[in-house]
Amino acid sequence: MLHVPVLLEESLDFLLHDLSGVYLDLTFGRGSHSQEILNRISSKGSLHAVDRDLEAVSYGKNKIKDSRFSIYHSNYSAIDSLFPQQQFDGVLLDLGVCSTHLDDSIRGFSFQSDGPLDMRMDTSSGFSAAEWLNSASEIEISDVLYEYGDEKASRKIAKAIVQYRANKLMNTTIELTRTIETVLKRTGKTHPATKSFQAIRIHVNNELHHLKMVLSKLHDALKVGGVIVIISFHSLEDRIVKNFFRPEVEELPKDIPINSYVKETFRCIKKKIKPSSNEIKMNPRSRSAIMRVFSKL
Ligand SMILES: C[S@@+](CC[C@H](N)C(=O)[O-])C[C@H]1O[C@@H](n2cnc3c(N)ncnc32)[C@H](O)[C@@H]1O
Repeated sequence: MLHVPVLLEESLDFLLHDLSGVYLDLTFGRGSHSQEILNRISSKGSLHAVDRDLEAVSYGKNKIKDSRFSIYHSNYSAIDSLFPQQQFDGVLLDLGVCSTHLDDSIRGFSFQSDGPLDMRMDTSSGFSAAEWLNSASEIEISDVLYEYGDEKASRKIAKAIVQYRANKLMNTTIELTRTIETVLKRTGKTHPATKSFQAIRIHVNNELHHLKMVLSKLHDALKVGGVIVIISFHSLEDRIVKNFFRPEVEELPKDIPINSYVKETFRCIKKKIKPSSNEIKMNPRSRSAIMRVFSKL
């Protein structure tokens, strides 16, 4: 299935305030936002795109042949070394994974099809979900499920995983799904493995850390008047975004160098934009999206 872009019109209406500007799409994915940015900007404008997923980058290189466009394989938290000295008119962050990740069983993101338990967006580095689940302590697994998945049965699931791996390493998505199903029975529409898969994916990709890192670097990466559009898909991400730009910040990131953090120098342009009921009907995945827009003063 193709990745259907979320809040496409709304995000670009805010982002593209100067059609001859230099723009940065930090989450290229399958390039729907990038393609539409290129459709709208003038021949003087340009777009750089980034993705940590090798498949997304090679898709972009093959798909978009446009002299105004370039694409890089990198984590977005490395924008300062990727674009030293450069400042942009607008930066887009459309967070999380693509539908193409979830649909490809080989990537191990989905409990709906069997595949290797990988879950890395960047398969060229880091550790897979299987490597982590087969080596982490029971308490560590339980903490991740609770913290990143809000999974109330986190302790029982962690215990079941540790018991399973005492006999056999856990290597596939179906093994993990069945282990979770021994603890949680299906009630209602949501599959019992949903929260655990989300939590493990966030942990394996260190998603919240990279989000905090990139936020701390955006000030230097933007021109004065430059716009940042951020679309998040769960409350953990949205809370980090909201708190980062809030004047009375309670939750300053503790694990990153924050010397570039200047709370007085961003203006909130739009607080909370949600997809229309029509968009949610056409693309149910969009229902949890929240978009926030800021500009550099
Ligand atoms: C929701 S998709 C973006 C969809 C895109 N806007 C489109 O129109 O197709 C998110 C993308 O961001 C990438 N991504 C997530 N975290 C990243 C990070 N820390 N650095 C770079 N890319 C990241 C993922 O690999 C994925 O391709």
